[in-house]
Amino acid sequence: MKKVDVLLGLQWGDEGKGKIVDVVTPKYDIIARFQGGPNAGHTLIFDNKKFVLHTIPSGIFRDNTINIIGNGVVIDPIIIREEIEKLEATGVNVSSNLLISKKAHLILPTHKILDKYSEEQKGIKKIGSTLKGIGPTYMDKTGRNGLRMGDSVAENFKEKYDQLVQKHQAILGDYEYQDMLAEFEPKWFEAMEFLSKFELIDSEHYINQALKDGKSILAEGAQGTMLDIDFGTYPFVTSSNTVTAGTCTGLGVAPNKIGEVVGIFKAYCTRVGSGPFPSELDNEIGQNIRQIGHEFGATTGRDRRCGWIDLPALKYAIMINGVTQLSMMKADVLDSFEEIEVCTHYEIDGELFDYFPYDINALNVKPVYKKVKGWNTDLTGMRDMSEAPQEFLDYITYLERELQTPISIVSVGPDRAQTIIR
Ligand code: GDP
Ligand code: IMO
Ligand code: MG
Repeated sequence: MKKVDVLLGLQWGDEGKGKIVDVVTPKYDIIARFQGGPNAGHTLIFDNKKFVLHTIPSGIFRDNTINIIGNGVVIDPIIIREEIEKLEATGVNVSSNLLISKKAHLILPTHKILDKYSEEQKGIKKIGSTLKGIGPTYMDKTGRNGLRMGDSVAENFKEKYDQLVQKHQAILGDYEYQDMLAEFEPKWFEAMEFLSKFELIDSEHYINQALKDGKSILAEGAQGTMLDIDFGTYPFVTSSNTVTAGTCTGLGVAPNKIGEVVGIFKAYCTRVGSGPFPSELDNEIGQNIRQIGHEFGATTGRDRRCGWIDLPALKYAIMINGVTQLSMMKADVLDSFEEIEVCTHYEIDGELFDYFPYDINALNVKPVYKKVKGWNTDLTGMRDMSEAPQEFLDYITYLERELQTPISIVSVGPDRAQTIIR
């Protein structure tokens, strides 16, 4: 029987997941998101057009591909409606290729307000949330108070909504939110009405039946491993399991039905929002990477923090996810560098570590670097590895040896065409 392949980020998100999902989609019948929500921003560029997807899987541009939003995803009706309308305006056939799990939880306007409230309460300790209501929605899910897509057809839907909003109002007290609520609430109900034309499914039944029928399925991760609620740099993380295990709970796939796991990483590293980032370059080199790599958030527009590649964190991510192959992104951003550095270890109180320590937030972690020679060549026109400069091949060989995993995809530019499958 076929298995579900997984494609997910190994760093702090924005590795280029959307681009690679789009590239490999022709190999698959179904693309499915399993966690996260509109905190994600997945960019696709082809035929001189650019799209940013937040909730909709990145297989939506290919005809004959079914796109599923699984039970592990949280949905903001207003945002998904905007996404769908934008896609439909450019001729993409969304309504017949998009299926939504009945069990996916709904982000209410008050969840977004609670997110903002929580961040303001935390002050300088804020997470740097995208303020899309992700944390509060998952809290209501695990607190067993949430509203799900499937509830929308129930007669007492409005009553359930009101009950949840009342709970939120009790938390918010005299926090000023009435204007925000007055703006979003009518739009939210209009968007729910709009979504009623989409087919709701039990993603677990749908996917397992599809596997029996010999269909090929790719699960598309959002965020990255270092933002995972359990294994990331807690508390500076998102509120879902971004790792391979999240595919099992977020779609209803048994662990023994997981096939290939493609881990995506940048040839360097970025992070947006607060939290530890041992190999961060808070200097001119970091600024250069940001400018050349256009490292600004696809969802919030914020500057992404930039740094060198971090091998201890990558090894950790490969282990947690059971990564079977790697995809290296944005190598072209380093084209003009004479020298590239690689964080091989962390030094903590004079001792060297090659793994990610528990209390990284509190520890004084100093990155230890190895310098490697840059390739100093424009890679953006490269379409075959036979055209690659030796220094670039050496960089790949070095990483494969360190990470003990083959790099099967190399990306040298944002366009669909700038991708080399090895
Ligand atoms: P995602 O969240 O993992 O899908 O990644 P984002 O879309 O948030 O961020 C990746 C950014 O890098 C987007 O602007 C992409 O268009 C761009 N990108 C993807 N691959 C490459 C690459 O190989 N080279 C360059 N220069 N840009 C890339
Ligand atoms: P994609 O799928 C990068 C970060 C936020 C913040 C933390 C918590 O595009 O890779 P949240 O809104 O989830 O409560 O924010 O996680 N974050 C991301 N960073 N890429 C993402 O998604 C992210 N989604 C959330 O910046 O630090
Ligand atoms: Mg992104």
